[in-house]
Formats: sequence, C-alpha cells, structure tokens
Amino acid sequence: MTKNPSPAQMPVSAFYGEIDPPQRLLMGPGPANVHPRVLRAMSAQMLGQFDPEFTVYMDETMALYRQVFQTDNHWTMLIDGTARAAIEAALVSLIAPDDLVLVLRFGRFGLLLTEIVQRCGGRIEALDAPWGEVLSLDQIEEAVRRLRPKVLAVVHGDTSTTMAQPLDGIGAICRKYDCLTYVDATATLSGMDLNVDRLGLDVVTAGLQKCLGGPAGSAPITISPQAAEAIFHRRHVEKGIAPADLKPGNGPMIRSNYLDLAMIMDYWSERRLNHHTESATMLYGARECARVALQEGLANRFRRHDQASRAMVAGLQAMGLTLFGDLSNKMSNVTGIEIPSGIDGEKLRGLMRDDFQIEIGSSFGPLKGRIWRIGAMGYNCHKHNVLITLCALETTLRKTGYGVTAGAGADSALSVYDGQA
Ligand SMILES: Cc1ncc(COP(=O)(O)O)c(C=O)c1O
Repeated sequence: MTKNPSPAQMPVSAFYGEIDPPQRLLMGPGPANVHPRVLRAMSAQMLGQFDPEFTVYMDETMALYRQVFQTDNHWTMLIDGTARAAIEAALVSLIAPDDLVLVLRFGRFGLLLTEIVQRCGGRIEALDAPWGEVLSLDQIEEAVRRLRPKVLAVVHGDTSTTMAQPLDGIGAICRKYDCLTYVDATATLSGMDLNVDRLGLDVVTAGLQKCLGGPAGSAPITISPQAAEAIFHRRHVEKGIAPADLKPGNGPMIRSNYLDLAMIMDYWSERRLNHHTESATMLYGARECARVALQEGLANRFRRHDQASRAMVAGLQAMGLTLFGDLSNKMSNVTGIEIPSGIDGEKLRGLMRDDFQIEIGSSFGPLKGRIWRIGAMGYNCHKHNVLITLCALETTLRKTGYGVTAGAGADSALSVYDGQA
C-alpha cells in the first residue's frame, strides 16, 4: 500500500494557489472596495500592543475618530471585530439583566438589536415601523415617556430596507427622561451626517466596510461621559491584571469578558491595562480610513454620497424601475429596487457578477427575492461607478427579458452630475 506523501514532501504546485481574487466592483450594501491607502497602511509591520509607538497610534486614532463622530467624547476608540462586535460590546456593557430597553425597529438590524438585548437579559419593548418606513419623533417620545426605559437602541441606516431613521430630537427626549441612547451607525458613519454631540447621543458604533472605505474587522465606537460613568460603575477587572489601587464598581458584572467596555477602556486609557492583543493591522487600517475621510472633509463626503444617491435614483427610475420604501428617508449610500415581476433576481445578480464583475445585493426576510440593493459608498461612491453599474444593470435587465431604453439610466444619472436635474 502506498502511503500519502507528508506535506513536507509535496511539490509546491500541490498546495492551493496564492490569493488572487477577481477584480469585483462591490456595489451592494457593503462591504465596498477598500481605499488603496487603507490597504497600504495595513501592510505595515506589526507592533506589540504596549509599544510606545503603537500607543501613540492608538491616541491618534482616538483623536481622529472624535472628528469623524463629531464629538468631544474622550472615550472614542476601536473595538476589534466586525461592526456587530461593537454593537454587542455597547449593549452588553450598558444593559444589566432586567434593565428595560426600548428598541426602535424598521428592518433586520433593529431585530438584531432586540436579539442582543435579549441575550444580555434585558427586558424589551419594541416600537416597529413597517419595513420601508421609519418612526416619527412623536411615536418615540410617547413610548419613552410611557415606558421610561434605561436605554433606547436604534439603527441609523438599516441597510436591509435602505431606510435611515432621522435622529434629530431623539437624544433630547432621552436626556429629558434619563435614558441612555445607543445608535448603530455601521452603515452611515462618514457617508451621512451624524453629529454625535449635537444630537446628544450616548453610545454610537460603526464599521469600516461601508462609507469609511475599509475592510470589515474593526469597529469604531464613541461613548459619552454619562454612558462611561454607567459602564465604569460595572467595572470588574480580571484578577490577574487588576492593580491594587483600582476599585471595582458596585454595579453588576458585565456579562462578557471579550466585549467588556470597562476593561477595553482601561486598555485605551493611560493605565494600558492588558485586555486582548489589539489587532495592530486593523488599527492601521481604521486610522487610515479616518485620515482619508477627514482629508476629504466630512461635508464634502456627505455631499458626494448624496449626489451619487440622487444620480442612482434618477437613473433607476428612468429605466422604469420602482424603488423600494419611502424615498424621503432613504439612506444616501444604498438604494432598494423592487425586482420587476417575471425577473429572476438571483439570476440577474449572477449575470452582473459574471459579465461585468459587479456585485449588487439582495435582501433578507420578507424582502428576500423582492428587492435588490445597490450601494455607492466610501471609495466606490464616484460618478464612474454609478454610471458603470447603471449601464451594466440595463444590459443585464434586457438580457433577462426586461425591456429598457438604451442609455436611459446613465443619461439621467449624468444629468444629476451635470447639475441639470
Ligand atoms: C446597519 C448594520 N448594522 C450592523 C451590521 C453588521 O455588521 P458586521 O457584519 O460588520 O458585523 C451591518 C452589516 O451589514 C449593518 O448594515
């Protein structure tokens, strides 16, 4: 019987090939293509998590993200993990078992917030809007006044429906009724205006892979002084690293070690208390994302996303397509399109990928198979990508049996860019 060769005896050609992904244009709801400057920053050499050069990069990253979040919050930093890690860190650190939480829901990611609150042992009250709509400030105020929750949790832009909940006034209502606010801004930070201090929000989290033009894997977070106080009230430092002078808080222990914001804040503080090994590579990437965004200027960036959104809407409508949801509350970086009857949505997505190397999204739950989602965000949010995507969609629609006048979409999108629409 012949024995299989050991890996050491195998020729190099027997191993899988070097990573060489196709050149896809990612025009779905995220991730989007990564800015080349971010890719370059991420190829820099590793440093230890206490290295004095590295801790300088950490402090710089805090300062940069304060500007991106438009806040003076000292506690503005990164959570290692995808956007969901920061959502979970925020909720598990704010919510103790039996705390009442009001969740505003208008899509899949509002449901995710509910699920995480449930895992934290919180009591849940939910305010729901039909998918494709958002909640009114009156509805929100009435619910906060009646329920007096400890925390209100809401998604800013819910990519599953493409709707953005207006946040104006929510922070003020919550302050009035002594309630902390949590906002998931994964999909909107640096693409839509989100001035944390002006809006009076307590904890806001994001991800890199949408408007920030980075890869998934690091999640910016900002925490108000009030929320930081509530979190430190639950501080329980691991036995093996706790310094003698650090008194534990009186509040209930945070029910996660990895996502314990009090311990993560102690690492990002001058104490530099060891928690996990900070992902240096992700920090380099996140820091560069912020530098790129701030060099462009937030106002210019919001304008760029808004213009692409208007061009995309004009182009899609000129192709005779029906857009999903209440357009007055549409996120500027993602657009939902009702799949025309008789068209196989997945087949079209496959053709867009195979013929044009363009990815567009489908959706979840009740919207699965009902809408496509096209994004134009971060590094991809440029006129040429909007036009290329519309032209590719037009050709693919014709190929799948939906008649579209040649050039209608791109012509209308161009007139938005030319200022004629
Ligand atoms: C609004 C929103 N929240 C949370 C998430 C989860 O992000 P991640 O997959 O990076 O954990 C997403 C991802 O698409 C999102 O769009």
